[in-house]
Amino acid sequence: MENYFKNKKILITGGLGFLGSNLADRLSSFGADITLIDNLNPLYGGNPYNVKHLEGKVNIVIEDMRDIETLKPLIEKTDIIFHLAAQVSYIDSLSMPYEDLDLNATATLNILECCRQVNRNVKIVFSSSRMVYGKVEQELLTENSPVNPLSLYGVHKLTSEKYLLMYYKDFGIPCTILRLTNPYGPKQQIKHSKYSLVGWFIRQAIEGNTIKIFGEGSQLRDYIFVDDIVTAMLKCAASPAAIGEVINVGSGHSTKFSDMVHAVVNCVKNGKVEYVSWPANYEKIETGDIRVDFSKLKSITSWQPEFSLEEGIERTFKYYSQFSSHYV
Ligand SMILES: NC(=O)c1ccc[n+]([C@@H]2O[C@H](COP(=O)([O-])OP(=O)(O)OC[C@H]3O[C@@H](n4cnc5c(N)ncnc54)[C@H](O)[C@@H]3O)[C@@H](O)[C@H]2O)c1
Repeated sequence: MENYFKNKKILITGGLGFLGSNLADRLSSFGADITLIDNLNPLYGGNPYNVKHLEGKVNIVIEDMRDIETLKPLIEKTDIIFHLAAQVSYIDSLSMPYEDLDLNATATLNILECCRQVNRNVKIVFSSSRMVYGKVEQELLTENSPVNPLSLYGVHKLTSEKYLLMYYKDFGIPCTILRLTNPYGPKQQIKHSKYSLVGWFIRQAIEGNTIKIFGEGSQLRDYIFVDDIVTAMLKCAASPAAIGEVINVGSGHSTKFSDMVHAVVNCVKNGKVEYVSWPANYEKIETGDIRVDFSKLKSITSWQPEFSLEEGIERTFKYYSQFSSHYV
C-alpha cells in the first residue's frame, strides 16, 4: 500500500483536525504530496499543533473549504481527496441547521462541482457516519440496513452520500463512502463534550473530575482507534473495488458505554464515575445499541482492526499526559 501513495497528490479537507492530521502523518511517511485545507473553526478540532511536526513537509492552506476559488486550483492537480471537514456535532446540528446543511451537504456538492469542472479523475473518500442509520432496529447493521437519521447531521451526511454516488454514476467521478462508528485517539479535540467522548473522558479523568453516565450506561457503541481508521481509509482509497461503495468502518466490537468509561478511569487511575438521569430530549436522538457488520470492509480490503479498546485508551492517555496543554 505504501508504494501506491508515493508521490500521489492528496488533498485533505479538515486536515488539521483529528482524523485529517493522523491521516496526514501516515501519508507523509509514505512519501505522498499532501495539501491540507482547514479554516480552524474554533467549534471543531482543527489544531495547528496536530501538524506542527509536518511543517515544511506538507502544504497547509488555512482557508474555508467552501471557497470555490480556493478549491478549484487545488482540486485541479489532486489525485485523491479525503473529504473530512465537517460540522461534527450531531447535537449542534439541531441548533444550527443551516450551518450543518452548508458544511455537511452543500460543501460536498461544491467539491463535486469543482471536480466535474476541472478534474473528473480525482478520487474522493468521504467520512460519513453511523448516524445516517438512526434508531437501530436490527441486530447487526449492514450497509443495506435502513437509513433513518435522527439528527440533521445524519440527514446531511446522507445527502452528501447521495451527491457523491450520483456524481459517480452520472459523471464518473470515483468515490468511496465510509460510515465511521465512534473514533477516538490522539489529536482529538478535548475542549468540549459535544463529540469524541472518549477523549473528553480521558481529560476528565486526568483532571480528577467526575464522569457522568446517563442512565445505566448500558447502550452499546463501537469505539475504533484512529490508527485503525487511517488504515481503513488508505486501503479503501487504494482499492479499485471500493469505488462507488458505501462501507462501514468500526472495530467490530460493541462495548457498553459504562465499560468504556470504567476502562478510561482504570487506565488513568484517576477520576470518579457517577450515574445520573438522562437529560430531557436526549432519548429522542439516542440511537440505541450499535452492532455493526464490517465484513464488507474486510472482504474488499483485507483490513483488520489492530487495537483493542484498552490499548487504544492507553495510547490516547499517554498522548494527552504529555501534550494536553495544546488541547485544552
Ligand atoms: N469524531 C467523531 O466522533 C466522528 C464520527 C463519525 C464521523 N466523523 C466524521 O469524520 C470527519 C472528521 O472529524 P474529526 O473527528 O476529525 O473532527 P475534527 O473536528 O477534529 O475535524 C474536523 C475539521 O474540519 C475543519 N473544518 C470545519 N469546517 C471547515 C471549513 N468550512 N473549511 C475548512 N475546514 C473546516 C475543522 O476546523 C476541523 O479541523 C468529519 O467528517 C466527521 O463528521 C467523526
